[in-house]
Amino acid sequence: MIIIASHNGAIGIADAVRTLNSGGSAMDAVEIGIRAVEADPDDHSVGYNGYPNILGELELDASIMDGRTLNSGAVALMRGYPYAISVARQVLERKLPHVLLAGEGAERFAREIDAERWDDMLTDEIREVWRRRLAASGSSGDTPELAADTSLLDWVKLATDPERVAGTVNFIAIDGAGDIASGVSTSGWAWKYPGRIGDSPIIGAGNYADNRYGACACTGMGEMAIRASTSRSLALYLQMGMTLREAGRRAMSDLRDLGGDYIGGMNLIALDRDGEHVGLSSEAGRTYIYQHADMAEYESVEREVVEIPARWARIVRE
Ligand code: GLY
Repeated sequence: MIIIASHNGAIGIADAVRTLNSGGSAMDAVEIGIRAVEADPDDHSVGYNGYPNILGELELDASIMDGRTLNSGAVALMRGYPYAISVARQVLERKLPHVLLAGEGAERFAREIDAERWDDMLTDEIREVWRRRLAASGSSGDTPELAADTSLLDWVKLATDPERVAGTVNFIAIDGAGDIASGVSTSGWAWKYPGRIGDSPIIGAGNYADNRYGACACTGMGEMAIRASTSRSLALYLQMGMTLREAGRRAMSDLRDLGGDYIGGMNLIALDRDGEHVGLSSEAGRTYIYQHADMAEYESVEREVVEIPARWARIVRE
């Protein structure tokens, strides 16, 4: 039994390991681990008190995948419900004929299943950071003004790569039955365009688990993982017979080969069916964590680097 997570999963990994040790499933462990990060007011890119979109609204994305069946549940653009991973899991558990619910539909579903709702998802401190960021770019920080009179296209440069402000969270677990599950949760890019959905709730992009081969989850610039189907690619490379490390490096180099003007930081963690794990990043010095069920605490490991030179178009508001 083992759990791996992005470095910001440290706050939840002990609960997740305890869940495995008391007979819980990999799905349970992933959900429990991620909930701790979603509730943490100091993590500004996941759950409660994440950085909001350009209109000052917090929109959450999350997904969870069961490697036994490839069943998956996901929510996107969900407001008002801090535990996005739990709502995502219920999309799967309630046996909807759907995988991904977004926006008002996700919120309606969360209400119908009595998911925990918080009236205020942002602290005054984060609202102030948002206002200051808009003001520094020449806006009064008045949301109605932005909503009604301003072309938001002009403001899209405010969007900030999530890895530069905090970090999406990834958890992958293998339980006592040898089953694999993976989960991802995020508030996405700070100051993103309203309605922007990243890779985290897209099965195959930011999240994928298959008992037969392994699992992969991503953080970083989600648009890239969507374009390259990064998590599913890694699983497919395992299926084709590559080692975990080869599969990880290949999935990262696919990202390096992407064309276009918006190329930024990307990271992944992956676990194979034998419990081997790897973490890769486009930047040096990044870490991930792991804990076997019999370890007293987690260990942190430096990620291997696959360089992806950043390209950022200058079509943005000056
Ligand atoms: N990787 C998270 C996001 O791009 O939203």
